[in-house]
Amino acid sequence: MEASLLIRISYLIAAVLFIVGIKLLGKPSTARTGNSLSAAAMLIAIAATLLDQQVLSYTEIAVTILIASTLGVYAARKVAMTAMPEMIALLNGFGGLASALVSTSEYWRMTQEGNFEAIHSAIGISMALSIVIGAITFSGSMIAFGKLRGVVSGKSVTFGGQHVLNAALLCAAIACSVLLVLQLQTHGWTIGLLAIALVLGILAVIPIGGADMPVVIALLNSYTGIAAAATGFVLNNHMLIITGALVGTAGLILTQIMCKAMNRSLINVVLGGFGQTTGTAETEASDIVVKEIGVEESAMLFDSVSSVIIVPGYGMAVAQAQHAVRELSELLEAREISVKFAIHPVAGRMPGHMNVLLAEANIPYDKLAEMERINDEFAATDIALIIGANDVVNPAAKTNANSPIFGMPVLHVENAQTIIVCKRGMSAGYAGIENELFGYPNCLMLFGDAKATITEVVGQLKEMG
Ligand code: TAP
Repeated sequence: MEASLLIRISYLIAAVLFIVGIKLLGKPSTARTGNSLSAAAMLIAIAATLLDQQVLSYTEIAVTILIASTLGVYAARKVAMTAMPEMIALLNGFGGLASALVSTSEYWRMTQEGNFEAIHSAIGISMALSIVIGAITFSGSMIAFGKLRGVVSGKSVTFGGQHVLNAALLCAAIACSVLLVLQLQTHGWTIGLLAIALVLGILAVIPIGGADMPVVIALLNSYTGIAAAATGFVLNNHMLIITGALVGTAGLILTQIMCKAMNRSLINVVLGGFGQTTGTAETEASDIVVKEIGVEESAMLFDSVSSVIIVPGYGMAVAQAQHAVRELSELLEAREISVKFAIHPVAGRMPGHMNVLLAEANIPYDKLAEMERINDEFAATDIALIIGANDVVNPAAKTNANSPIFGMPVLHVENAQTIIVCKRGMSAGYAGIENELFGYPNCLMLFGDAKATITEVVGQLKEMG
């Protein structure tokens, strides 16, 4: 079979596998298969690209793959689950940079070869788009990474005339792009475009508070895809166009879902000024009077009920309490107590955060219920056990029109007969606001680190036999 036909068929198979893989990622029970299919698709796409005669020498490719794979495996194994958004920021950033650099070098190559006709066409426009979007993604992602890591201040950075400066830079980028396509005598336009886009990326992300970074990262992820698709047009590589389009749309849809679940508009996130706390803010609850419960009493209470809904949140991830939580759920079920997990779409700090943690602890998928499905069940439940969650159970989202989270869908935990909240103190969550739930008459605070406290409750239940 002719090599070019083989490459095209391989790309087609890879594209189908990518699409099926993404579809399967939609459900926890099929997510692993989806991941494997997508990885296989990537392998096929790489192998097919290697067959292409236009690539570098195989030695260069092998050395690059070896170095990159070693770094990738090391990083993926080392990264803590709570630091996943940081890793995705880095991956996005480098993806964007790769697109920008490939397009820049293609422009240089085409001008060297005198292939001006191509640059005057849609290819030139794709080059400019790839450079601008890729470079914005790179510098924006580096700032997002820095904010999450604490290297750059997580606070929103704003200054007078910021929007005017951004608009001026955008106009300059458009002007450079037009000149890049029309005037071929100089390479200055590509350098200028790269430089302007890098500054734009920084300026676009600095006004956004550190805690809003996961939304920004999802958006930058979509930019990476768009830049890659534009580069696909430059290289006339169908695989790159398809995968770039898939990443671009998937990132946009994810951004939309996150904004909707937080009851925020994308504009509101992008303009900043919200979510500037990072989950362990010093915000103290003002006049809320709480009732405390100890480990021993909690164990006794659990021993006397017939249904429990566990609501995990960001604190469970921080404490890495998921294994202790699984032990607790197994002990309760052994006592014939019904146990379910209520999953809020934006609990934690990344999409699917709770699902991933609970799956890691081998908690069966059928125990996990999405918010819409379980909200009506709280009223018939004896205990709602909240582990490190705060904003996602804050009734102010329903009752207080002045609250920054008003309108955000929340879990109706207050309808349960008793609420037990396991957290270390009275600190606010991501939104930086107090939670009146903690003062409700049916709410009991079980103070302490989630892992240590739940482990103690497990120990106590075991002692009780
Ligand atoms: P949060 O509202 O952020 O509350 C987490 C709580 O965990 C804190 O109040 C903290 O209180 C407690 N905590 C921290 N460390 C703990 C530990 N070791 N042991 C026990 N508790 C601990 O969490 P949530 O309810 O999951 O809500 C998520 C928030 O993040 C939402 O506002 C959402 O909009 C936002 N957000 C989510 C995403 C995604 S995609 N998931 C993306 C961006 C923003 P103490 O310090 O007192 O213990």
